[in-house]
Amino acid sequence: MVNIKTATEIEKMRVVGALAAEQLEMIAEHITPGVSTGELDRICHRYTIDDQKATPAPLNYRGFPKSICTSVNHVVCHGIPSDEKILKDGDIINIDVTLIKDGFHGDTSKTFVVGTAGVLAERLTQVCKESLYLGIQAVKPGAYLGDIGAAIQTYVEKNRFSIVREYCGHGIGTVFHDEPQVLHYGKKGTGPELKSGMTFTIEPMINAGKREIKDGPEKDGWSIVTRDHSLSAQWEHTVLVTEQGYE
Ligand code: MF3
Ligand code: CO
Ligand code: CO
Repeated sequence: MVNIKTATEIEKMRVVGALAAEQLEMIAEHITPGVSTGELDRICHRYTIDDQKATPAPLNYRGFPKSICTSVNHVVCHGIPSDEKILKDGDIINIDVTLIKDGFHGDTSKTFVVGTAGVLAERLTQVCKESLYLGIQAVKPGAYLGDIGAAIQTYVEKNRFSIVREYCGHGIGTVFHDEPQVLHYGKKGTGPELKSGMTFTIEPMINAGKREIKDGPEKDGWSIVTRDHSLSAQWEHTVLVTEQGYE
């Protein structure tokens, strides 16, 4: 069963969602050539605790060792920040932040370009962002979960990029990863019907090459990379179904 939030719960989702968004805005200026992903993690961790009075949800989640995920270039998702991983000009990096405030989760991510991007990196990042917004625009009461995936898939494949199938968006609230599973591909009119008061994430991961993935070479149990080593981008929002559509 997909749970429907009360007005009070929705207000808490709004608060934590805004904090998560502010954190992504805060970190932007720190993403420069020469910075390590470990340093970005420390900045976010401190900001979450000291300034936002919130909790970083990834830290110790199923054993995840850091407060944010940093996924660079061919890393699809769940990259673990480290002091050894130094960003260089032209890299792309997804920063995925999830905060907990007053018991509720806000989960958002975007792909940043480090310095000056190459043409392909820029296009992959933009198409991924646009696909997320097309998915969000499919959200309204009476629509179907499959409408979201269909909107994303149509656009991404028209641009000749591929969609990762193994990971999906998710219901979110007091639980980090809840029902339903929000696929980033699919057919219009399929899946559960959307109802006002549902909250879930949409978070397409798209690759410049083939869609297949594998575990990262570090064998850290988390980082996922493209099998063909092609670039991968991801964008994520936490979304509420409203009477009119979405928020
Ligand atoms: N924030 C990720 C998501 O979008 C989940 C990260 S789980 C972690 O669902 F443990 F890797 F942090
Ligand atoms: Co998520
Ligand atoms: Co996330």
